[in-house]
Amino acid sequence: MTLDLPPIDIAKYVAAKRAADMVEDGMKVGLGTGSTAAWLVRCLAERVQEGLAIKGVPTSQRTARLAQEAGIELITLEEARWLDITIDGADEFDGELNLIKGGGGAHLQEKIVATASDLMVVIADVGKAVDALGAFPLPVEVLQFGWRTTQMLIEEMLVSTDVLGRSASLRMGGQTPFVTDEGNYVLDLHLHRIGHARQLTLMLNQIPGVVENGLFIDICDRVVIGHGDGRVVVR
Ligand code: 5RP
Repeated sequence: MTLDLPPIDIAKYVAAKRAADMVEDGMKVGLGTGSTAAWLVRCLAERVQEGLAIKGVPTSQRTARLAQEAGIELITLEEARWLDITIDGADEFDGELNLIKGGGGAHLQEKIVATASDLMVVIADVGKAVDALGAFPLPVEVLQFGWRTTQMLIEEMLVSTDVLGRSASLRMGGQTPFVTDEGNYVLDLHLHRIGHARQLTLMLNQIPGVVENGLFIDICDRVVIGHGDGRVVVR
């Protein structure tokens, strides 16, 4: 595969390639969503063409299409029940390997698949590393039913926390609201800095109408960090 790419894509590619090399014959593999995960699918597909036998569980319709086109055998999570490894991108990761995910709106499936895995590996360019989570808007998947009430309840709840920002905006996909694979809406929470992520994830998921939020606490085991010059650091 050519490395005649912009530095950001080199960083994503080298991280994805290193993580793809962690996959062993016979494994059941959770396949993440997003541009970095798309590199992973391509790297895994190359290994499959060379004889690697794996079964993939996609975390979105987008990834399912990509993996199918690339020749990776897919099964559902219901069929797999439990996975050896999940490899996925992230929007932010901190020093404790806690994450914000859901920039692509797939964090509900991503969290279910990652939680059902022996090992959860994040692949990311170095720009995703942060001291404290929260500069990236936190995605919260909500039911369409009563979403404005859910939005109001979330904003009211945020007043009692230590986050800096409090607004929750409806994610749009052009002129209409963005709809997830599960048929829900996404509210993006502009928090700027999250002090107590563990507490916030529990508080958010207690609000009626909230399906799942994009904070991944104690789920990620390893982060593979790609740099634009081709270096890879594993944490
Ligand atoms: C999708 C995600 C992605 O993993 C996250 O948004 C990172 O995407 P990219 O690799 O394109 O930067 O959580 O829901």
